[in-house]
Amino acid sequence: MNSVQVKTTFKKVFKQNPQLYRSPARINIIGGHTDYTGGYALPMAIDKTLYFAIAPYTHRIELHALNFDECAVIPIDLERKPEAFWAQYIFACLKELHERGLELKGMQCSFGGDIPLGAGISSSAALTCGFIYALNDLFGYKLSLLDIAKIAQAAEHRVGTKCGIMDQYAILFSQEHKVIQLDCLNLSHEYAPIDLGDYTFVLFNSNVPRSLAESAYNERFENCQFVLKTIQEKEPVVKSLRDVDEALLEKHKGLLSPAQFVQVRYVLRENERVLQSAKALAKGDIRSLGQYLFQTHKGLKNEYEVSCKELDFLVSAMQECPEAIGARLVGGGYGGCTLNIIKKDAVDRIFSELKANYFTHFNIELDMYIVSSSQGVSKL
Ligand code: GLA
Repeated sequence: MNSVQVKTTFKKVFKQNPQLYRSPARINIIGGHTDYTGGYALPMAIDKTLYFAIAPYTHRIELHALNFDECAVIPIDLERKPEAFWAQYIFACLKELHERGLELKGMQCSFGGDIPLGAGISSSAALTCGFIYALNDLFGYKLSLLDIAKIAQAAEHRVGTKCGIMDQYAILFSQEHKVIQLDCLNLSHEYAPIDLGDYTFVLFNSNVPRSLAESAYNERFENCQFVLKTIQEKEPVVKSLRDVDEALLEKHKGLLSPAQFVQVRYVLRENERVLQSAKALAKGDIRSLGQYLFQTHKGLKNEYEVSCKELDFLVSAMQECPEAIGARLVGGGYGGCTLNIIKKDAVDRIFSELKANYFTHFNIELDMYIVSSSQGVSKL
């Protein structure tokens, strides 16, 4: 579904002229599960997009989710919560805006696009960031991009996942041909050029529903918080996990469960990999970058334990393949996509072999998206 289709449908359903906005999905090249501990990450928005057609309307909020062909109505006083799962995100955004003292107004809004759901590339953050950005523009709220990111993150928390801010940040701040070097502690970033030469980013969608994802994600978040608090009690100079190194973690190992110790050690090592990856990227050393991706996957699988057999199968297959130089699960884990760096002229062959093998093993269809960088949320 593209912007023209979204606009045309809006006009047909709501009989008025909308303003259009676009909101991209994201990949995170490296820095898996580091954002909610104030770590580093290397995300960028990609050319998978959700489009919004939106116009002011008298007295209530009328929504039309084109990909599901479902509608929802939300009263301005937010007294009635909508039922559709996608509308929960919109409702949460509205609640957050209202709680910040911003005046809600009536509107009609259609949205749709080509971002696969539950694939680990942030379809929900594309929805919340795009929606808040559009309202900010339409109703003159005067929110900065960082304000929008924080409100969208709070909306996700309200729906149920204690996510970090990496998705929202990438979706709002990205620029084409650039990767964001994100510091989630100071909420600051730098842009670095991204050029993979003969290689390209490819996503393989395992099509495994991320059913365990929310509870497992929140449990990891709690574990990291617990470790930080426990160490802080003994070492008051520690302000975040960024002040903890492996020696300090080891020193307090006795106060932690084995899982908490290993998970936080993974986070510390992952932060280091992000910094090394940024250096490799700056030198155009794509092969080293790819190696870091493989190491990250190993950590997410064995230490952080957020992978699943299907994702491991896809990454192992890439390790056997000379034209693939890096692969890892992307997003929260437990399903969704793997991110791969593959030689452009080998992509089709690798995909058709992998698709057949994957189906033989799991009886699930594999999907592929070749992705490139894109600008963050914008008005069209
Ligand atoms: C999800 C969350 C992000 C981040 C990633 C893992 O996408 O929304 O905040 O924690 O998982 O890196």
